[in-house]
Amino acid sequence: MKKILAVLAAATALMAGPAPAQTYPTKQVTVIVPFAAGGPTDIVARIMADYFAKALGQQFVVENVAGAGGTTGTLRTAQSTPDGYTIMMGHMGTHGAAPALYPNLKYDPTKDFEPIGLAAGTPIIIVARKDFPAANLKEFIARAKNPDVRLSQAHAGVGSVSHSTCTMLSTQLGTKHRVVAYRGTGPALNDLVGGQVDYMCDQIVNLVEQIKAGAIKAYAIATPERSPALPDVPTTKEAGLPDYQVSAWNALFAPKGTPKEIVAKLNDTYKKALADAATRKRLLDLGSVLPDAGGQTPESLQKLVQTEVARWNPILKGQATQ
Ligand code: MLT
Repeated sequence: MKKILAVLAAATALMAGPAPAQTYPTKQVTVIVPFAAGGPTDIVARIMADYFAKALGQQFVVENVAGAGGTTGTLRTAQSTPDGYTIMMGHMGTHGAAPALYPNLKYDPTKDFEPIGLAAGTPIIIVARKDFPAANLKEFIARAKNPDVRLSQAHAGVGSVSHSTCTMLSTQLGTKHRVVAYRGTGPALNDLVGGQVDYMCDQIVNLVEQIKAGAIKAYAIATPERSPALPDVPTTKEAGLPDYQVSAWNALFAPKGTPKEIVAKLNDTYKKALADAATRKRLLDLGSVLPDAGGQTPESLQKLVQTEVARWNPILKGQATQ
């Protein structure tokens, strides 16, 4: 009922006011980030929000709505008024893995959103606290498989990227360790740097600075090629775990029913952000993989969401307890 009223409100507003797309945005826009400040989703969102604000002349204000592996903030977006003034930064967890882990998920990533654009591909890196007693991935795996050793793994909640990708790792290694859930991998990284947890599977954009500073250990990046942002970090193939290949992604979404002219204007601004030299540099310096023109359409993002939901289902079904 709430959704119907929201759509009616938006429709009424549209009928009453001037053609929305030409004047949109006439006030600040909220960008929901479904994790705590400081993590990869937040980092990518703020870089994009900075460009949108400059390009469209209104504030794009990030609101961190954390909880339940990102599904709390994602549901908040799905239920928001579809008028263009609430959008979100989602990702491979909220719009890919979540349905497999939350049987009663109250939103459908493939139906309840208007895809705007894929902001950044974010390769996954296996990282550990800097004094973890393993000099390389092979030694890390040996320690992880040792039945007398119980490690602690940090993640950002069931269904998050860090949870899903490390669940995939545990399944491949046949290991099961203590897991520590955080409201985002920003706070999780603080504890990893502080040595309070042993390891994490996280998105490169969150890790580059700490790896370069030697504050954490990076064992391998789970992509076929090394990252130009971290040329000294070996691939999982080079490090002896070729089957562990996984990348996440972060993307902008609006709630279903947002007027198509407004979605088109947001997509146009997003494409200009990815063409803007300063914005590109910020994203690339953090190890992002940026989509080419074909990967910048709403249709290609919709297809990615559908593919990811189908991909993660068999990998994660029933793993909610991890
Ligand atoms: C995740 O694990 O899904 C993200 O890294 C969480 C975050 O952006 O904090």
